[in-house]
Amino acid sequence: MAPDPAKLTRVVVRAPGKVNLALRVGPRDEAGYHRLATVFQAVSLYEDVHAEVAEGFSVEVTGRHHGATPGDATNIALQAARLLADSTGVEHGAHLRIEKGVPVAGGMAGGSADAAAALVACDLLWGTGLARDELAELAAELGADVPFALTGLTAVGTGRGDILAPALARGEHHWVLALQDEGLSTPAVFSRWDELHPAPPDPELDEGLMAALLSGRSEVLAEHLANDLQEAACDLRPKLGEVLAAFADTSALAAIVSGSGPTVAALASTGPAARQIATTIREGGLASEVLVASGPVSGARVVEATRQRPQS
Ligand code: C5P
Repeated sequence: MAPDPAKLTRVVVRAPGKVNLALRVGPRDEAGYHRLATVFQAVSLYEDVHAEVAEGFSVEVTGRHHGATPGDATNIALQAARLLADSTGVEHGAHLRIEKGVPVAGGMAGGSADAAAALVACDLLWGTGLARDELAELAAELGADVPFALTGLTAVGTGRGDILAPALARGEHHWVLALQDEGLSTPAVFSRWDELHPAPPDPELDEGLMAALLSGRSEVLAEHLANDLQEAACDLRPKLGEVLAAFADTSALAAIVSGSGPTVAALASTGPAARQIATTIREGGLASEVLVASGPVSGARVVEATRQRPQS
């Protein structure tokens, strides 16, 4: 007999964090969101969402970066599960366990990865079988970075960052990520950016960046890394200027604030170079933790699906 997907009892989905290779910010739209032109790259730090069939909805958060992630109804993974249930009319619930590997409130879209993973996990667990573009529509309702966490790899984002087109990118890039214990609020960083830029033009990506991605060479890509939010993030957290300066004294090819910060992402020429830079930055004591990662990696994907044992 064909296996019945409704009989799945547990699904585990893994979704990556991201860095913005370029983040260009423009004016706010009618809803108050900024128009963006950005290039995302998914990197090898992951959120694993374990979903089990349950009567209601609940969530627990584990892992080394569980920090300040809410375990209540405001949790974005739980909101994702509820949104999928509401829009498909299923009457199942789910218990979610989030194993965090992406820094919390770090500008690497860990919460967005949770939401993307929860959508894919519950869709399989409940057998709702939505197409990827239907999941992407729900993802965009949950947050501007959630659609990218579904697709992963390297992509150009426009609109709020939620309208995606794959980028033609070659090669593998090695990143060093300097984390801070205390996160930065994304709305606060955007508000500071508004104060610094009262009448911004429409955002545009520089064409050299697309050619650099195609070349696959980290040395070339390094010349085109850019983040319009960096100044605002450094204003709110002056220590980030010191972290950037510390990277400038290493063999890092370039360093930028990741998204709205406070994580600083530095590009290294090779994997061993990344590990060496990480050791130097760790010894400098300016970061709460220093990790290495590589990109691009794929978006949310199923890593485990457990079926109910047949009754004997
Ligand atoms: O979409 P998400 O919930 O991740 O966004 C968090 C906050 O970041 C928004 O409430 C908004 O203040 C800010 N934001 C923005 N423009 C964007 C994306 C996010 O102003 N394109």
